[in-house]
Formats: sequence, structure tokens, C-alpha cells
Amino acid sequence: MSIHIAAKPGDIAEAVLLPGDPLRAKFIAETFLEQSRQYNQVRNMFGYTGLYKGKPVSVQGTGMGIPSISIYAHELFRDYGVKRAIRIGTAGAIQEAVKLRDLVIALAASTDSGVNHIRFQGRSFAPTASFSLLKTAYDAAVSRGWQPKVGPVVSSDRFYTEDPEEWKIWAQFGCLAVEMECAELYTLAAQYDREALTLLTISDSLISHEQTTAEERQTTFTQMMEVALETAIS
Ligand code: HPA
Repeated sequence: MSIHIAAKPGDIAEAVLLPGDPLRAKFIAETFLEQSRQYNQVRNMFGYTGLYKGKPVSVQGTGMGIPSISIYAHELFRDYGVKRAIRIGTAGAIQEAVKLRDLVIALAASTDSGVNHIRFQGRSFAPTASFSLLKTAYDAAVSRGWQPKVGPVVSSDRFYTEDPEEWKIWAQFGCLAVEMECAELYTLAAQYDREALTLLTISDSLISHEQTTAEERQTTFTQMMEVALETAIS
């Protein structure tokens, strides 16, 4: 039992999917895993372990934003020996070429968060995906006929910004989309020498202000789940 996860050692698989929404964790466990059982309900941040194609996989809600995912990823790596952590989430497009419903695989994550400034005492760190997880996910997506966009993303500390054009500086430097957690997940994976990846479906565009419908989000989410689960058991 760690402070925020009420699991015993061995309750959590070496591979963990990390959706932000705990109800999504419940949905994934009920829909995609066999013999799933809940190991955590502290703060309603549900966590489950089950089998996918006969192999153990866990799924743990993380909440939104860097401080929240930091707590869960930290405890998963440090206290439960998690080796592969795959965030599955949504992001807002900041490039014309990135369209609603696209699957984005985050190669690296820049951030406006102060967390790494504090951690590295003013120096800069480049939070980066695991190459082997990224390659597996990319191949799994392409073999299904999907065309994932692979590139850097931005992990922002704020969903609502005073300046509605703040994202443009990141776009000018090639970032594909904005979300709120990836930089911390990649940093902690580096600290603990584990593997991490972030898969994102594009739910909205900061350029066109379009949004996906709930039904579209469900379809793209299901596609992303197949890629995430295949990567988890690789
Ligand atoms: N900003 C930050 N996080 C997000 C967004 C966004 O526009 N869309 C989905 N996650």
C-alpha cells in the first residue's frame, strides 16, 4: 500500500495503461480485460488488473495535470515495480496537418510547467518516449491501416490560458498537440529507468476550434486502446 494506491505488492502488472479519467479505467477493465479485479479506489482514482490475450495488464486513472499524474506514476514505478507505463489521453491539435480524431504518438514533451525547473535547478531536461514502446505502438497502428502522427507535444499546466494564442510558440517549434501530463510521465520514467509512452487522440483543435463528438471520441478511443494494449503486452 502506498499513500494514494491501496494495492499489495504483486497486485499491479508490469505494464500499466494510464487514462486520466478513472471511469475510463473502469470502462477499459470491463471492456478489454479478462478476469479484471479492482485494486484501488482511494480518492475514486480506480485501478484494475486483468488479462489481455492472456497477459497481465493494469489500468490506473491518473487525474488531470502534471501534479496528479506525478503522484500515481511515482508510486507505480517506486512502490509497485511497474516497467512499462502507457498514457492514453486526448489532446488539442496545434498544427494544420494534425486533424480531429488523429492518433498522435508523443516522441517528446516540452512543457510550461515549473516542475522540471525545480527538479533540475534551472537546467532544462528533454522528456522523451521509450523508443521500443514507440516503435511497437507505431507498427501496431500502421498494421491496422491507421496513420499515426509521431512527434513532440506540449504538456501545459493550464487548460485555460489568459492569452488564447499562447500555443503558437510551441507550434512554431514543431509541437503537434497540447495535453497536460506527458512531460512528467517521461521524466519519471527516466528517473526510475523504466519505459513510458503517450498515445493521444485529437479531441479538439486550437486552430479551428472544432471538437469531436462523444461518439467520435469513443471510436478513436477504441482504436487507441487496441494499440495501447498490444504495446503493453509486447
Ligand atoms: N489543452 C490541453 N489539454 C487538452 C486539450 C487542450 O486543448 N484538449 C485535450 N486535452
